[in-house]
Amino acid sequence: MTSKKKESVEKIERLRVMGELSARVAHDLRNPLGVIKNAIELIEIDSKNNFDEKMKKRITMIKNASDRMIRQVNDVLDFVRTKPLELENNSISEILNSSLKVTIPKNIKISKSNNDANLLCDSRQLEVVFSNLITNAVQAIENNGELNLRINEGPKEVIVEIEDSGSGIPQENISKIFEPLFTTKPTGTGLGLVSCKNIVEQHGGTISVSNNPTVFTVKLPKNSRIKQE
Ligand SMILES: Nc1ncnc2c1ncn2[C@@H]1O[C@H](COP(=O)(O)OP(=O)(O)OP(=O)(O)O)[C@@H](O)[C@H]1O
Ligand SMILES: [Mg+2]
Repeated sequence: MTSKKKESVEKIERLRVMGELSARVAHDLRNPLGVIKNAIELIEIDSKNNFDEKMKKRITMIKNASDRMIRQVNDVLDFVRTKPLELENNSISEILNSSLKVTIPKNIKISKSNNDANLLCDSRQLEVVFSNLITNAVQAIENNGELNLRINEGPKEVIVEIEDSGSGIPQENISKIFEPLFTTKPTGTGLGLVSCKNIVEQHGGTISVSNNPTVFTVKLPKNSRIKQE
């Protein structure tokens, strides 16, 4: 083996080990983080009237910080673990409804098309996709704005569009947003969209984006030869 080839093999091996390590760390952190979150919520309930403003502020800080850590850990796990799909016949509209359970500020107006489509797919995984896209949209809107969710059915595929009236994506970033670890957010991990792409591609589909307004389009084939590695 030439020394250049050897170097690149070693690099791939190092990256593989790093991937496994981060998956393990993320996994092992999830339970203790859950314990912190539950414990602080119980403290809050138990001592509702006994705490002064300063103490309440500190509790909120711990809650927000643990929520953030749990989110990041879940992002890492969604990215590193490609799970085999659990396929069932599902209503896309229902999957979108479950995905809307992420926290959405009241000043964001949500419209969702009435039509539905049924598809053989993994509902839990597609929920991860749509929740990530909705979370990104909400973060891009910041204050007031609109979120439009559309479902369309063609002869061969189901198309879901998620449109937001937010800040938009600068043209120079468009080619980077699906890359792992690309983020423009101070506390972002940059794993949301790459996880979406992995899951959609596992379903044999595609995900794309267009600007003005920002629309993420997920196309899922009805009769795909689904990748089941
Ligand atoms: N709807 C959107 N409007 C504007 N920019 C977006 C939108 N969705 C994604 N982006 C851009 O793409 C980047 C990558 O998104 P991605 O979801 O992969 O990571 P993230 O949101 O930064 O972090 P996280 O890992 O928490 O999801 C974002 O940082 C943002 O710059
Ligand atoms: Mg994101």
